[in-house]
Amino acid sequence: METLILTPRTDPEATAKAAEILKNGGLVAIPTETVYGLAANALDAEAVSKIYRAKGRPSDNPLIVHISRFEELETLVSRVPENAKLLAERFWPGPLTMVLPKKDIVPDVTSGGLDTVAVRCPENAVANEVIRLAGVPLAAPSANISGLPSPTDFEAVYDDMNGRIDAIIDGGACVVGVESTVVTLCGDVPRVLRPGAVTPEMMEEVIGRVETDESALHPLEDGASAASPGMKYKHYSPNADIFVIRGTLPEFVRFVSRRTGENEGVLCFEGEEKYLPLGCVTMGKANDSLSQAERLFGALRELDSRGFKRVYARSPSEDGVGLAVCNRLYRSAAFRFLKASPIIGLTGQTGAGKSTVAKLLELDGCETVDCDKIARTVLSDGSPILEETAKVFGADIIAPDGTLKRQLLAQRAFSSRVNAAKLDAITHPEIIRRALSQAKAITKRGFPAVIDAPLLFESGLDEFCDFSVTVVAPVKVRLRRVMRRDGIEEGAARARMRVQQEDEYYVSRAQYVIRNYEPYDLESQLSGIPY
Ligand code: TXA
Ligand code: MG
Repeated sequence: METLILTPRTDPEATAKAAEILKNGGLVAIPTETVYGLAANALDAEAVSKIYRAKGRPSDNPLIVHISRFEELETLVSRVPENAKLLAERFWPGPLTMVLPKKDIVPDVTSGGLDTVAVRCPENAVANEVIRLAGVPLAAPSANISGLPSPTDFEAVYDDMNGRIDAIIDGGACVVGVESTVVTLCGDVPRVLRPGAVTPEMMEEVIGRVETDESALHPLEDGASAASPGMKYKHYSPNADIFVIRGTLPEFVRFVSRRTGENEGVLCFEGEEKYLPLGCVTMGKANDSLSQAERLFGALRELDSRGFKRVYARSPSEDGVGLAVCNRLYRSAAFRFLKASPIIGLTGQTGAGKSTVAKLLELDGCETVDCDKIARTVLSDGSPILEETAKVFGADIIAPDGTLKRQLLAQRAFSSRVNAAKLDAITHPEIIRRALSQAKAITKRGFPAVIDAPLLFESGLDEFCDFSVTVVAPVKVRLRRVMRRDGIEEGAARARMRVQQEDEYYVSRAQYVIRNYEPYDLESQLSGIPY
């Protein structure tokens, strides 16, 4: 199909031509203040079904019906409640869509089979004129191939829709940049189903309490039904895997500096490029949600045209219009979040090379918390758990001067598995508490913390880490290393190794496994770990 390009800037007949196509059941992409819409006569089931085909959109995902004046609302909905009037008075024409009970005149294809319909009155002058000239309400989803970022300029619409629809109106760039706020007025309390430039707070000023659906910032749980069907589909996804990185700019800069850079890019705020060693695409200004909204979809499309496979994104504010920005960004990232300064649990069998890996991580800017060291001091003078230990193992383990008789305690605690477990039950929570407080002090300063803990999983410390790494090596290799390191005979080394868990125990519990043996390539193994 040949797609006609209409340019109202130079052609005074452009909107009339578009209206004519729409009246005849055709499809026209139109600019709006939010994003470009793919319009058809909302009351013509045949025309509307063409929209779904052109976009490759699931047909249970209902469309928004666009009108040119508030008065047209009552032709589409069975009831116009007071709060709808108040919202329209304040925010129409503009980026607000209201969901209301529909009249029969709205065909099922338009409402996705629901008994409600979503209606909005766009502010964009071209859009408004096209609706008025067409003389019918226009159903218009965003004019992108389903799943891709919504188009916010003519070029993006052209890329997705040229050859698939009758015409595209070139109206330049969209000023808002994210789709309208969708609010349903069908329940007891008005509820935001999709955040946009009209924020819940702005609506509350006019109509009182407004709720925001859980789905605004969270993925839909498996099997849960979406209040807004659109929220259940994959959305705004570029080809690249996007990761949203939580942390300050300095932390983000350090995080990005630890990446290898192969097919990797960055989604940052304007002016930050100069600090970042990877290819950058910007999504507006820091601390300016409106400019982020305006730029986000264009930035997502640019990431693809640059060919990135993995992209690390700054984490925008979630306040105000930031809610809409994050709603789109998190979906485009499939809700993948990483901390710029994580707490990493590091463990492994004796001789596997845990210390070597800890050293490499340190060279990369991480700081280490040594749990062996903490374990040695956890029962020293004045320790809060000394008394508890004495209660279980006998008051005489504490000398008259208050110090611990270590040998006596060891004798009693290691006399049986049960007793050893009792001592662990007392000391482990205290070791965990101290390790975590040290680790948090490190991450608070803006660096990743590595908790080096031989009993990471046994003690349950891994639960408090952002992720865990285990180092493994074959028995033969470990045996050789332990004998050399500790200057002991094979029998003694084997005995020491026997008390530890099998490979499988570590590998099945850790998120990342480092194989510290031929051919080593530790650097490249480490590059797969998100720190
Ligand atoms: O800014 C916008 O709203 C743009 C421009 C073109 O106006 N349009 C747009 O349409 O974003 P679309 O189809 O991409 O998104 C419509 C959203 C979907 O999330 C859909 O599930 C929801 O509105 N929706 C439509 N009708 C609904 C209804 N009756 N009940 C609940 N949600 C509805
Ligand atoms: Mg859409």
